[in-house]
Amino acid sequence: MSSKLICAGNWKMNHGPEVTNAFLKDFASAVSISERSNFALFLPALTLHQLSGNELLEGLNWGAQNIHWETSGAFTGENSAAVLKEMKATHVLVGHSERRLLFNETNEDTQKKMQTAAQVGLTPVICVGETLDERKAEKTLDVICEQLRIALKGWDFIHTFWVAYEPVWAIGTGEVARSEQVEEAHKALKTQLEQIFPGKSEKVPVLYGGSVKPENARELGAQPHVNGFLVGGASLKVESFVSIWRQGQEVD
Ligand code: 13P
Repeated sequence: MSSKLICAGNWKMNHGPEVTNAFLKDFASAVSISERSNFALFLPALTLHQLSGNELLEGLNWGAQNIHWETSGAFTGENSAAVLKEMKATHVLVGHSERRLLFNETNEDTQKKMQTAAQVGLTPVICVGETLDERKAEKTLDVICEQLRIALKGWDFIHTFWVAYEPVWAIGTGEVARSEQVEEAHKALKTQLEQIFPGKSEKVPVLYGGSVKPENARELGAQPHVNGFLVGGASLKVESFVSIWRQGQEVD
């Protein structure tokens, strides 16, 4: 795996077509083609067509924030993985904590979505993370390793995937996890990956998400088991999004 950090932006339900268009133009001039493969963007489904076939953004990884586990059918309001692939998307988020907590998604749903992503040739980004109650009860490592293990049931390693560790209590709260908490969780996830796929965990990027900003990217990026970031709020502006990546590369 490249030693360069990955910087992925999850816009959640933000930005309409006009702001998206301006962002993408500015992003294309701020980040060279050779740097783009270190970035990923997860836009709302309604504006994803602005990335599809966009020549300005050659090399960028991108996709949806969610898919259904069926690729077509009577599922009003859902995103089809097959359609995403046809649009030339590369990645998709699965199991984000907002999907789990607000839309009742289970580990088993995440596992089914992983299989569908692999089936159509998208790289899924499995999001895992503990709630504050789970952390207080010292269940963090058990919870996130179980989320990962279930999501990967039946997974064939010929398909690529990424992992994102996002403690629920650090998302959108401004409260970033301390670097040693992040490192501990990432190390546990890598160990879990190594148990499932011996000799291969190094190939799987594990990103951190939860109130990442330019000001904390350098320290977080310096942790040995952090391979990048999944950024919410600070990915909405080109300046902070790109600055997070640049700061994260700095080695103390
Ligand atoms: P914030 O960076 O806004 O805390 O969001 C993190 C996140 O949920 C990314 O998926």
